[in-house]
Amino acid sequence: MKTILVTGGAGFIGTNLCRYLLNQGNHLICLDNLYSGREINISNFKSNPNFKFIHHDITQPIDLTGIDQIYNLACPASPPAYQKNPIQTWKSSVFGIYNILELARKNGNIPVLHTSTSEVYGDPTESPQKESYRGNVNPIGIRSCYDEGKRAAESLLFDYFRQYQTPIRVVRIFNTYGPYMDPLDGRVVSNFIVQALKNEDITIYGDGSQTRSFQYIDDLIFGLDKMMNNSQDFLGPINIGNPNEFTINQLANIVKKLIPQSSSKIIQAQELPQDDPKQRCPDISLAKKILNWEPLTNLETGIIKTIEYFKTQI
Ligand SMILES: NC(=O)c1ccc[n+]([C@@H]2O[C@H](COP(=O)([O-])OP(=O)(O)OC[C@H]3O[C@@H](n4cnc5c(N)ncnc54)[C@H](O)[C@@H]3O)[C@@H](O)[C@H]2O)c1
Repeated sequence: MKTILVTGGAGFIGTNLCRYLLNQGNHLICLDNLYSGREINISNFKSNPNFKFIHHDITQPIDLTGIDQIYNLACPASPPAYQKNPIQTWKSSVFGIYNILELARKNGNIPVLHTSTSEVYGDPTESPQKESYRGNVNPIGIRSCYDEGKRAAESLLFDYFRQYQTPIRVVRIFNTYGPYMDPLDGRVVSNFIVQALKNEDITIYGDGSQTRSFQYIDDLIFGLDKMMNNSQDFLGPINIGNPNEFTINQLANIVKKLIPQSSSKIIQAQELPQDDPKQRCPDISLAKKILNWEPLTNLETGIIKTIEYFKTQI
């Protein structure tokens, strides 16, 4: 049994990770400032004696002892959430990882798994994206608080490894969906499902030909666990995502098909947001080779489970 700190533990991925780690019998400290996370997500864990919640912002230093591992997830991830306060977003990524790495050192240089993102590749000029691709990011655009914040965090993680040998684990997560997503935080999967369940128009940005690869949350959680505990001390960066690529139009049609009672129409109503990537697809050969990991959930199966969750939320 380990004592594990999960920052951002009240968010979408964090809630699923906390549940998984608690089910393994670990002591869990969930730290969150509730910027984009929801207290209701973690309300079921509060009666568990192995669970502790700390309300804290990782842009500020934190003093904790007796921790064995840290998963650093604290950062808003949906564009509306991270663009609402871009300076806070940048600080969460950059000051945040600095404070977490210092905490790791004070606890005896314990492992830190950092959730980076496919957004470090920006609007990619090659596809699928390998870890060696250095990206095509607009450093001054409206997405850069997130994209460049994550890139700066990766750079600091590797400096801590070079300077202090901190055992870092850098995971580049690709678009993930599933239960405990915030129905209102503006991500494409949650938007489409919520619109279909409410019989509202399913609104597509641009002409819908832009692609994304959608990963179900359970596959990601297994990947994070395998990366944190990999026996080769592999630092990353490593892509964790589902390489099956779909256009946004295809996604809208799948959601509509899986909610047959919905009277929603699919409409191309909105302009593509600035710097929106046109293509997104992970090359996961490294994860297959090093971690013996690959996603197991197909899109329809994952969407059905996610629809069931959203039915309980709206
Ligand atoms: N969901 C995805 O598809 C995806 C893709 C790539 C990377 N990621 C990364 O995974 C992590 C979790 O994403 P998510 O989808 O669960 O997002 P989320 O917004 O649901 O969760 C983020 C959590 O971090 C908390 N948080 C934000 N800033 C904080 C701060 N300064 N101090 C303490 N807590 C803070 C929020 O309140 C929230 O609970 C993020 O770092 C995100 O960048 C997610």
